[in-house]
Amino acid sequence: MDEYIVEGEGVPDNVLLSELSEDALFGNVTLRYEVDRIYTFTGEVCISMNPFRRIPGLEDTPEHMSKYVGRYPYENPPHPYSVGDTAYQNMLNTKKNQAILISGESGAGKTEAAKTVLRYISFATPTSKAKDMEKIKDQLLDSNPILEAFGNAKTIRNDNSSRFGKYMKISFNAANFPVGGSINVYLLEKSRVVTRAMDERSFHIFYNLLAGADDGLLSSLQLQRDPSAYKLLALSNCYTVNTINDKSDFAAVQAAMRTLEFPADVQQALWRYVSAVLHLGQVEFTASGDSAVVANENEVAIAAQLLNTDKAVLTKALLNRTVEAQGQSIVKPLDAATAVYARDSLCKTLYERCFLQVVRQINHTIENKTISGKEEVQIGLLDIYGFEVFEKNSFEQMMINYTNEKLQQVFIELTLKQEQEEYEREGIEWTPIQYFNNKVICDLIEAKPKGIIAFMDEACLMNKTEDVFLKSLGDNFRSHEHFEDFDKKKDKAIGKLDFRLKHYAGDVIYDMTGCLDKNTDQLFRDLTRALNASSDAPLKEMFPVSNETKKRPETAGAQFRRSVNELIDMLMACSPHYIRCIKPNANKRPDELDEELCRHQIRYLGLLENVRVRRAGFAYRNEYKRFQSRYKMIGAQSWPSFRGGDDKAATEYLVRDEMGITSDLYRLGEKKGFL
Ligand SMILES: Nc1ncnc2c1ncn2[C@@H]1O[C@H](COP(=O)(O)OP(=O)(O)O)[C@@H](O)[C@H]1O
Ligand SMILES: [Mg+2]
Repeated sequence: MDEYIVEGEGVPDNVLLSELSEDALFGNVTLRYEVDRIYTFTGEVCISMNPFRRIPGLEDTPEHMSKYVGRYPYENPPHPYSVGDTAYQNMLNTKKNQAILISGESGAGKTEAAKTVLRYISFATPTSKAKDMEKIKDQLLDSNPILEAFGNAKTIRNDNSSRFGKYMKISFNAANFPVGGSINVYLLEKSRVVTRAMDERSFHIFYNLLAGADDGLLSSLQLQRDPSAYKLLALSNCYTVNTINDKSDFAAVQAAMRTLEFPADVQQALWRYVSAVLHLGQVEFTASGDSAVVANENEVAIAAQLLNTDKAVLTKALLNRTVEAQGQSIVKPLDAATAVYARDSLCKTLYERCFLQVVRQINHTIENKTISGKEEVQIGLLDIYGFEVFEKNSFEQMMINYTNEKLQQVFIELTLKQEQEEYEREGIEWTPIQYFNNKVICDLIEAKPKGIIAFMDEACLMNKTEDVFLKSLGDNFRSHEHFEDFDKKKDKAIGKLDFRLKHYAGDVIYDMTGCLDKNTDQLFRDLTRALNASSDAPLKEMFPVSNETKKRPETAGAQFRRSVNELIDMLMACSPHYIRCIKPNANKRPDELDEELCRHQIRYLGLLENVRVRRAGFAYRNEYKRFQSRYKMIGAQSWPSFRGGDDKAATEYLVRDEMGITSDLYRLGEKKGFL
């Protein structure tokens, strides 16, 4: 404990701050950041400031990691290892699933923190002599480079930004050995394949493949090295990134695919699909009357060849749409603009399904195949995009920010509310803490039938335009506290197709231009059929044709709402642990602190609420039975067993007489003592 608090380095736990305020919290974490203490606890929540450089002594070495194994958090400098260790110990003690939630803005260090915790758990948990268990740990770690290649991209904020959410689970058997894992992914930002901001890149794998594939592979895919030759890559005018070596990353992906037992034909197929996306992106259309014709048939031919489909079938599907009307199928030619839309949706969908195929393949290898799932307990790691506020925010940002609102609900429900409920249950005197419950914003977005997503679905179903959609939002929510729409006189910042949501983290203006197309997210059935007709069996499975022709496919918004709610339900059934990541500056620079940016993050990560509850409450609690059996050795009257009454009396004796804690600093509840 002496080493734990070092003069001039702030306090390792914000709960120990003498004053409770944003200033004090900001002062403490930034003071620590300046002396390379990038981690600070707030009770059990670990705050991590991204240093944007390697800090000597903080490397994930066995010596470093071993210091935390089986230790209480206060015995060591704060570190995500402690969070991993607490989760593991908790799992052993309670046999309950544990979830480690890592949140923060893009570039704040979430993925790095997740990898650190995974490395730690993999280091600290026992391994039987059996080779296969050692292998599971390696495989879990090795899934990272593959997932990052397919799911990460360079953005303005982060050279290696995850463009999907990830929940990684490690399963433990009754003997507490890791026996398998699984990965769930959420909302890949597939629009990135066909559109993105200047100076950003598409998914790493495109550039990795072009730079790293050997000449034989490249020519079999009919690709050339130069990424600028491909329209889908050229559109944002950024090909290389200082911090990324595409060539060696490709080798790393191939190596990881070997570790993860991707069969050679599966690998080959993935490269074919990725290349087909690039070739499809080359396809251009010209107008012939009202109908589109393909301007460069050779690109369709190459794509068809890579996808094992017939060129004529693919061409027809790119240029026509079959509509069902009065029991009849009518084939209508597409105009050039719609053909572009169809082509782009094929590129996006093909890439997304390719990504999902990669995830399936990884899961196939790492899931536990030996033991029945019954006695398994899991530790999960959630690494998901934090709140996103850009200059222009659209459908994607709204979905991402909606997820963060929902995660804040988990935080409120599980941390703040449970804490308060426990005091009530235990009959402990308690002044309720005021905190903002953001459920009202979640409802505004997701409620059925009157929420933003529902109105968007309705507009899509009725083939309405975006201004009609925005009008319906305005009519319904104009008086809502967290919603503001276009009003020339009141607020110039909100344009005609915009609205502002007052998120718990701050205000964001969303531009809804194009949102209905994004929400419909339709791959025309003709294209699905064309790929389903492929002689490549896995590809055929990736594009199933449903028999029901009438049923409308689920919209992107509805799909997203469903998968977010599944995630939330699952998290609600776990014991949560938190790592909150802060980005000290927007320039990815070491030793630079942007005060406003930090304060903003401290505010919306709910850190202050967290300290408030922690400080108003009691940092330590334990059941009387456990408490007295853990500490009875320190009291003459309690060793070997207490003679003055029940477990509660024993606890009071130990706390008051043996530990000398004054009565204002502890409370005795129904079943537990609080310190
Ligand atoms: N603990 C850390 N130590 C050193 N550098 C870090 C650390 N965490 C993050 N970084 C740097 O910041 C970049 C962005 O971090 P990342 O985890 O990808 O952010 P996020 O997942 O939150 O978007 C990393 O590529 C790395 O360069
Ligand atoms: Mg990330």
